[in-house]
Amino acid sequence: MHHGRVSQQTDGAALPATFLAALRAAVGASHVLLDSDLRATYETDWTRRFHGVADAVVRPGTVDEVAAVQRACREAGAAVVAQGGNTGLVGGGVPRATAPRDERGSPRSQVVLSTLRLRDLEPVDEVAGEVTVGAGVTLSDLQHRVRRTGWDFGVDMGSRDSATVGGMVATNAGGVNVLRYGVMRQQIIGIEAVMADGTVIRRLPGLLKDNTGYDLPGLVAGSEGTLAIVTRVHFRLVQQLPRRAVALIGVDDAGQAAAFAAQLRRGLSSLTAAELFDDGGIRLVLAYAGGEAPFRDAHPRYLLVECGAATDPTDELAEAIDVLPSRDAVVASDEGGRHRLWRLREGHTEAVNAEGVPHKLDVAVPIGRIGEFDLAVREAIRRADPAARTFVYGHVGDGNLHVNVLGPDPDDEAVDEVVLELAIQMGGAVSAEHGIGVAKVGWLVRDRGEDDVAVMRSIKRALDPGNVLNPGVLFGA
Ligand code: MLT
Ligand code: ZN
Repeated sequence: MHHGRVSQQTDGAALPATFLAALRAAVGASHVLLDSDLRATYETDWTRRFHGVADAVVRPGTVDEVAAVQRACREAGAAVVAQGGNTGLVGGGVPRATAPRDERGSPRSQVVLSTLRLRDLEPVDEVAGEVTVGAGVTLSDLQHRVRRTGWDFGVDMGSRDSATVGGMVATNAGGVNVLRYGVMRQQIIGIEAVMADGTVIRRLPGLLKDNTGYDLPGLVAGSEGTLAIVTRVHFRLVQQLPRRAVALIGVDDAGQAAAFAAQLRRGLSSLTAAELFDDGGIRLVLAYAGGEAPFRDAHPRYLLVECGAATDPTDELAEAIDVLPSRDAVVASDEGGRHRLWRLREGHTEAVNAEGVPHKLDVAVPIGRIGEFDLAVREAIRRADPAARTFVYGHVGDGNLHVNVLGPDPDDEAVDEVVLELAIQMGGAVSAEHGIGVAKVGWLVRDRGEDDVAVMRSIKRALDPGNVLNPGVLFGA
């Protein structure tokens, strides 16, 4: 079990004096947070399901400071948990509830290394369509910066105001435009990162085409803080699509939503997103955030799609929807209308969280089996816990469903088990975009198999022999 109650601790008295002095020398005393009130927001994840006690939170302001912190932690045998905007959903960016142990079985210190002060936003290379940014820059700050130059960033997601690019790289985040531009890994041209021993690797600014040796940026992406700490990233940008149209389509089931999404993907070159949610979800969002139901009659499931282009895509979207045998559809091209429709989808995360501590299971399913999975997973959850409330939403165009379950105790993994087992049985994956974190360590081998995980472990051992970087994540204790 990797989560549980936070025990009381009020200061950094647990840290050996020499280690504390080294951290203070690395970043300055004011950026070593020891007081429990100051540490609190760094210690619990967004869902409140995962939390642990940090002996210190350190806030380096430069890559050299990150390297100095890293060396101090390695020297002291402390665990380093890198954290960006703390919007992660699998417990990978907060301290472990049970501190990792050293070889003698004693608990190791845990240090949260916050990247929030790494906020350099360099000028956009307008000719190349590329930009270099610090790990602590939020997605929305990056978007604002690049949009002023006529470019855009290829990944977008609801947590844009808090999520940082470092965390998004470390978790290989996905979001709502993956069907058009791919995941974070596909946006990276170059990277600067600090390895476990304090070595700094740099592929900056990076070249769009670069086949010289192993793809280190690609390896660091999605490694969830276990191989390196991302400090800066050089990204490719995408063309800005200033004219937008959004449609909400009432559908019978998730399979129909997937089929409609596939038809729209084939026929509409301007399609940028295809999202799914259910009737229970829409009701919850409206009850929590207010607003009007989009249709007079409710529908079992909803498909939300967006098109973006240089010229107004409203007509082509409306025509493409007209030929679908759908129950009901509404199209919005004005900003307010588009925003209202998107809020129905993006409001899910907060509305679910407001009801309790959710079990968030982010699975990938072969797109052709989405309808079957959606029905089977609800039935399996009902059998495992008849009182549980289930909301299924996600990125249907990518085969990525977020199964959110409310009711079971945060430590009760019975519903996690049935949902993830079903995803594996159906040829899917236990994580599509949120990662493994500590939430799914038990499933990594079940999903990837012994051989793949053995290779991953040898990479981890080679790059971080002291298991300093995020111990407990991916592989477990
Ligand atoms: C989303 O698609 O809304 C995000 O992955 C967050 C969530 O799963 O709630
Ligand atoms: Zn998502």
